[in-house]
Amino acid sequence: MSSTLLNELSDFFATVKQRTEFHAGYPYNLSYDYTPLFRFLEFSLNNLGDPFIESNYGINSRKFEQEVLDFFANLYKIATNDSWGYITACGTEGNLYGIFVGREVYPDGILYSSQDTHYSVAKAARLFRIEHVVLRSQETGEIEYDHFEEMIRENRGRPAIINLNIGTTMKGAIDNLDVVLDILERNNIQDYYIHCDGALSGMILPFLADAPQVSFTKPIGSISISGHKFIGSPLPCGVVLTRKVFLNKVETNIEYIGSKDTTILGSRNGHSPLFFWYALKTRGHAGLAKEINFCLENAQYLFNKLNLLKYPCMLNKFSNTVVFKKPPEYLIKKWQLAIQGDWVHIVVMQNIDTCKIDKFISDLKDCAINNLRANPKLVSCYISDERLDEQRLAGIL
Ligand SMILES: Cc1ncc(COP(=O)(O)O)c(C=O)c1O
Repeated sequence: MSSTLLNELSDFFATVKQRTEFHAGYPYNLSYDYTPLFRFLEFSLNNLGDPFIESNYGINSRKFEQEVLDFFANLYKIATNDSWGYITACGTEGNLYGIFVGREVYPDGILYSSQDTHYSVAKAARLFRIEHVVLRSQETGEIEYDHFEEMIRENRGRPAIINLNIGTTMKGAIDNLDVVLDILERNNIQDYYIHCDGALSGMILPFLADAPQVSFTKPIGSISISGHKFIGSPLPCGVVLTRKVFLNKVETNIEYIGSKDTTILGSRNGHSPLFFWYALKTRGHAGLAKEINFCLENAQYLFNKLNLLKYPCMLNKFSNTVVFKKPPEYLIKKWQLAIQGDWVHIVVMQNIDTCKIDKFISDLKDCAINNLRANPKLVSCYISDERLDEQRLAGIL
């Protein structure tokens, strides 16, 4: 390799390393070690077709994919024989799949989702040409249930395809499955399909005994979870799980691959099932539960720190997403914060410990001080802090 190419790669490596060190805005677990799997990058692993049907293409990781699916069937309380699913390219693909199944079960259905829902759900409505009703959200990010009931009543003659958020993107809010089921029952709606979008918190909720429980013991149709979020993976991936009874609504036989076409994509990444499998095997149920506690405790730590500064912020129950007022642009860029209107968030993942949180809080104070120095009349810098008060008293600000 020429030295120019080597230098280019070295520069890129340094950039990525630095960006990884200062990342807090997206729900990606960036702390993992998959080195024992590096040797598989020599091979073109491809799980094209159905995960449970051996295809003509033999360089695949179906065995590992099936074990991962088993883990999730267990986690979401459905017998392996009654469940079906696959490892997706990401949470979005799982949402597309779940809503696609809902549409195939109820071709005349209307899709309901809250305004806090991830854009992949609206994309599914567009792609599959499903009429889509966007429901109002509460301040917390959870569905406004009265609005849902009103809309369900208005469209009483039509089946309902419902997307529920198990952790919204911006606020980590959890839509209450039991309340939604009550509304459906109260209104005598029997034709419905519920897809659960558990991109991040789908990996958190089942581990928390006091959290609202979502599982296939209740009448849900599917759930989608991202793999590169809580689990963490260098390759984006996810998992979708549904009931086997729905499979005949989507499958077609494909002679060319010697398998059934039951998934959205054609070729499917064969490395990510291996990463997924390795993560689950090495960390286990107890290890994952410990990580969840770590993240939730540190989210509370950040929330408390912001509260001490009287900085406007919020944290939903069972969530590791701390939402707060938009800080100066410099901090948004440095920490790669996700923005929505006047608000940003930090998703406290495994790679965000109290040290990093302290660093961020210190940055926030420095920014406030610098802003006030530049513009002493500024009133909206949110911070109430001893350091600021001292400087104010000393007449520096
Ligand atoms: C609630 C929710 N659903 C779906 C997605 C999409 O997941 P992915 O980025 O894995 O496609 C996200 C991503 O942030 C999300 O927050």
